[in-house]
Amino acid sequence: MADQRTVELFDEFMDLVRGFVAKHDLGYPEYEAVRKYLISIGEAGEWPLWMDAFLESTVNTTSYGVGAWTPSAITGPYYKENAPLLTEKPYELPMRPDEPGEPLLFRGKVTGPDGAPVGRALIDVWHSTNDGVYTFFDPALPDEYLLRGRFYSDDDGSFEFRSILPVPYQIPSNGPTGYLMETVLGRHSWRPAHLHWTITASGFTPLTTQLYFEGDPYLDNDSCSAVKNDLVISPTSGEHDGTPVTLAGFDFVLQPVAERVTA
Ligand code: BEZ
Ligand code: FE
Repeated sequence: MADQRTVELFDEFMDLVRGFVAKHDLGYPEYEAVRKYLISIGEAGEWPLWMDAFLESTVNTTSYGVGAWTPSAITGPYYKENAPLLTEKPYELPMRPDEPGEPLLFRGKVTGPDGAPVGRALIDVWHSTNDGVYTFFDPALPDEYLLRGRFYSDDDGSFEFRSILPVPYQIPSNGPTGYLMETVLGRHSWRPAHLHWTITASGFTPLTTQLYFEGDPYLDNDSCSAVKNDLVISPTSGEHDGTPVTLAGFDFVLQPVAERVTA
């Protein structure tokens, strides 16, 4: 039995596409070019990348809603479930012995919209290496949970972890997604440096978001259109245990389940 909503959405979508083809008088050369391009995305295994680059940001905001809580942001194609659960403080994301990159000390807090602390929130953080790539998705890196980890907030909602400071990165420019962005559209394929987060706590809608860093050259022209002003933080230079570190922080406000809004 066909699902009615799916049928209606599909028919409306195809009507839009057919209307677009007719409006722009598209013929076989353009049809063949698009057909060939779509096939190449599949052959390169880039559909997750393509969808997340061009469409996820809109779907993400539509589904999470906007309110008195931290805005959501895209997951992207580089999430890996079941990152190691860190239990020994100070928490440090797993990394190689001489992991290149500037040391980062991040301090944050998790609350509800009323400011009440959310203890035992499960915080899942992941980010790229100093070369702008993610483990499990780059053949040059070991298939290990590097720069990926999970931990719980303390009873007062606070948490702290160490890692390296992420840097801006280019989404792969040697495949069909990068080809479209750079060669066809004449844009670039860079994303501003970011930390990925998913925060889960009982009574709240899971928050998936990203944090960006003030001064990044790609904040205003993210190739994936995902930056939101409220997610840009201002790190400072500091010292910890006698070594220079970048200090960063953010207070996350979760959306209570009852207030979930869908567009
Ligand atoms: C990311 O945030 O990791 C990402 C999002 C969309 C496309 C590529 C990467
Ligand atoms: Fe990313």
